[in-house]
Amino acid sequence: MNIILLGAPGAGKGTQASMLAEKYGLLHISTGDIFRANIKGGTEIGKLAKSYIDKGLLVPDEVTCRIVKDRLMKDDVKRGYMLDGFPRNVFQAEELDKFAKIDLCVNIDVEERLLMDRICGRRVCACGESYHVSALNGRTTCAKCGGELYRRDDDNPETVKARLETYFGQTAPLIDFYKKQGKLLTVQSGEGSPEEVFKQICAGLAEYVK
Ligand code: AP5
Ligand code: MG
Repeated sequence: MNIILLGAPGAGKGTQASMLAEKYGLLHISTGDIFRANIKGGTEIGKLAKSYIDKGLLVPDEVTCRIVKDRLMKDDVKRGYMLDGFPRNVFQAEELDKFAKIDLCVNIDVEERLLMDRICGRRVCACGESYHVSALNGRTTCAKCGGELYRRDDDNPETVKARLETYFGQTAPLIDFYKKQGKLLTVQSGEGSPEEVFKQICAGLAEYVK
């Protein structure tokens, strides 16, 4: 099964991807994580990506599509995968249809008012775990691996505002795109916990597998 995780910044794409990877053994492919690894490694792609990410803008389509296309040519994708953060506009979605077979697009719907707090309060660890400051009680290390927690460079109010504008202007139209293809599964996050959202997604996937 190959699925797309769609949702605004802070909707919980990464959180749900970790849980889905554990339950279904699906590979988690996050374009944001790929860019951040490139930025950390000081590559040319990383330098280019950073200049867009810091402004809350999309990295150019030709770079992003090439990265995803190359990644999907590896053997390990045969077990099924989740695309987290790709596609992010209609052009990318049309390109994706040329080189991949997508079964379902899971749209995580969260009220906009919750997103800013979730993102600006997020602290992440290099191992992939993320936390909200309100639950850390002053702790600065990861409960899972002991690594130092940090805030992503693009998790500041000004950049988040730009990321949300980019989402509503360019990415949200994909909801209709996948609805028209009959592949859309929308889960309402509301103020539900990650576990509650996960239950909804699993129920939807079970329906689909039938
Ligand atoms: P990317 O890394 O994909 O960032 P994003 O889409 O802005 O989303 P986030 O990672 O911030 O949020 P998330 O939905 O994963 O939420 P999370 O699970 O962490 O992209 C970064 C940048 O890279 C883009 O801005 C762009 O510049 C570039 N880029 C990436 N892909 C691209 C593409 N295809 N084309 C062009 N450019 C691209 O959850 C957030 C927080 O909330 C966490 O602290 C979590 O613990 C908490 N949380 C999660 N679920 C819940 C819940 N149910 N209740 C309460 N808290 C929750
Ligand atoms: Mg993410």
